[in-house]
Amino acid sequence: MDTLTALRTRVSVPRLTEPGPDREQLRQLLAAAIRAPDHGLLRPWRFIVLQDEQRQGLADIMEQQALARQPDADRCALDSARGKALRAPTVIIAVAEITEGHKVPAWEQVLAVGAAVQNMMVAAHALGIGAMWRTGAMADDPAVKQRLGFTDKDQVVAFLYLGTPAGAIKSLPEQNIADYLRDLPA
Ligand SMILES: Cc1cc2nc3c(=O)[nH]c(=O)nc-3n(C[C@H](O)[C@H](O)[C@H](O)COP(=O)(O)O)c2cc1C
Repeated sequence: MDTLTALRTRVSVPRLTEPGPDREQLRQLLAAAIRAPDHGLLRPWRFIVLQDEQRQGLADIMEQQALARQPDADRCALDSARGKALRAPTVIIAVAEITEGHKVPAWEQVLAVGAAVQNMMVAAHALGIGAMWRTGAMADDPAVKQRLGFTDKDQVVAFLYLGTPAGAIKSLPEQNIADYLRDLPA
C-alpha cells in the first residue's frame, strides 16, 4: 500500500484477534514511531511492548486501578477490568517521558509521542494489521504511571492495541475537507 493510500484509508479496528504482529512487523512499527517529528530532539517516546502472556502484567495493573477507583468492585467487575488488557494479542503502551524545565513545553513533547503513535497506526494499516488507540482513566492515573515505571509528570499517551481484524473493517466516514477550513481573520 502506498503512503497516501494508507494515510487516507486508516480506520480504528476495535475487535482484534490472533495473530498479533510478528517480530519483524513490530520492528517496523517501532521504526516508524521513532521517525515522528520531535521539537528539540528530546526523544520523549517510551514504548512498553506486551505480547501474549506479558499482557497479564497489564491486566494486574488494570485490576488494581479498578479496585482503587471502586473499592467494593466485585470479581466480575475486576475480571472485566483485567479483560481490557487482553483485547488484542499485542498492546504497545506509549508514554511521553517529559523533560521538565525545557524550552520545549510538555504539551509539545506529548504531541511528539502522539505523532509516534499515529505513525504506528498508519504503518500497521499499511501492513494489514488492525490497530486501536485507547486511553481512558488509566492514562491519567498517577498509580498506573508508577506501576509502568514512570512518574506523575509523564503522560501515558496510548494503549495501542494491535492484531488481526476480527470481522469486517468499518467503512470510511463521509468527511468534507471544506468543513475544516477557515480563513485568517481580517
Ligand atoms: C488520544 C486518543 C485517545 C483515544 N482514546 C480512545 C479510548 O479510550 N477509547 C476508544 O474507544 N477510542 C479511543 N480513541 C480512538 C477514537 O475513538 C477513534 O480514533 C475514533 O472513533 C475515530 O475512528 P477512526 O480512528 O476509525 O477514524 C482515541 C483516539 C485518540 C487520538
